[in-house]
Amino acid sequence: MRATAKAHTNIALIKYWGKRNEELILPTNSSLSVTLDGFYTRTTVHFKNELQKDVFTLNDKVIKDIAYERVTNYLELFRNYANKQGLYAEVNSINKVPTAAGFASSASGFAALAAATAQALKLDLSEQELSKFTRQGSGSACRSIYGGFVEWQKGQANDGSDSYAIQIAPQDHWDIRVAAVVLTAKEKDVSSRVGMKRTVDTSVFYDGWLDSLPADLEAIKEGIVAKDFEKVGSIAEANCLKMHATTLGAVPPFTYWQDTTMTVMQTVQSLRKSGFPAYFTIDAGPNVKVLYLPKDEQEVLKKLRQTDGVTDVIVSKVGEGISYV
Ligand code: DP6
Repeated sequence: MRATAKAHTNIALIKYWGKRNEELILPTNSSLSVTLDGFYTRTTVHFKNELQKDVFTLNDKVIKDIAYERVTNYLELFRNYANKQGLYAEVNSINKVPTAAGFASSASGFAALAAATAQALKLDLSEQELSKFTRQGSGSACRSIYGGFVEWQKGQANDGSDSYAIQIAPQDHWDIRVAAVVLTAKEKDVSSRVGMKRTVDTSVFYDGWLDSLPADLEAIKEGIVAKDFEKVGSIAEANCLKMHATTLGAVPPFTYWQDTTMTVMQTVQSLRKSGFPAYFTIDAGPNVKVLYLPKDEQEVLKKLRQTDGVTDVIVSKVGEGISYV
């Protein structure tokens, strides 16, 4: 009872920012992302009768802290589903997601864990079912089941049965690039989980955010299908700014941005002024991701690398979905 799966991380162009059910991880809004080929997690799950509890190693280190709790609680979902209570596993993950680049490893981490666990237990789940399981590990992870351009449909049902990801366009539909800009920034002090909850509960701007989302989502999907880079980039950038604006209206207010974050945003805007279409997006941290077209790569990377406070720039192409090793 052993299986290995590999999943890539994703970057949201329309952000998931808020839950309507924290236990089942049901979102208040639908979101849309691009799966990235540069960053992934490979996880082997091996169920063994002789184990008394789960064992989790990450990059060859045995994990015992809160990350262990999250993994073992998550496996409980599968044990209950498969009627295998008391059957424990060795979970071995290799994470190729540079945390310094500001990507949460939870997206690729939970997608790989869900896929490997389901395969090891021979559950024979559809991708849709797998996406629902993955969602319950970390919301954004449910989009990493698929490659290319992916929407997480928020759904309506209280039990989460209609809240899962679907593919909008496959990996080979459109060759765009995403540069992860690594900054000399301090660690974030508000996690995405805490930040989104505080925003939903207290931000005076939250309703405005929610009201604007359906139109953003429809328009960006049209842009993706038509490969209209300026449309997709400008909607993604504006959507990111709106999400971050909600944090300023929270109580107490907070922001993920640092001075270097804004310096990179200015570089991107000045690239556009000089004729190179590039657009930024930012998750729950200070780092910036920049979208651009392959033909502009040289100039975009040069300008980003010359920006004060930038220590590294890591390029990704559009990536594939779950694979089994
Ligand atoms: C800003 O998926 O990490 O990156 O569901 O609580 O695990 P949990 O949150 P998580 O939040 C991601 C928030 C975001 C936007 C996005 O990826 O859509």
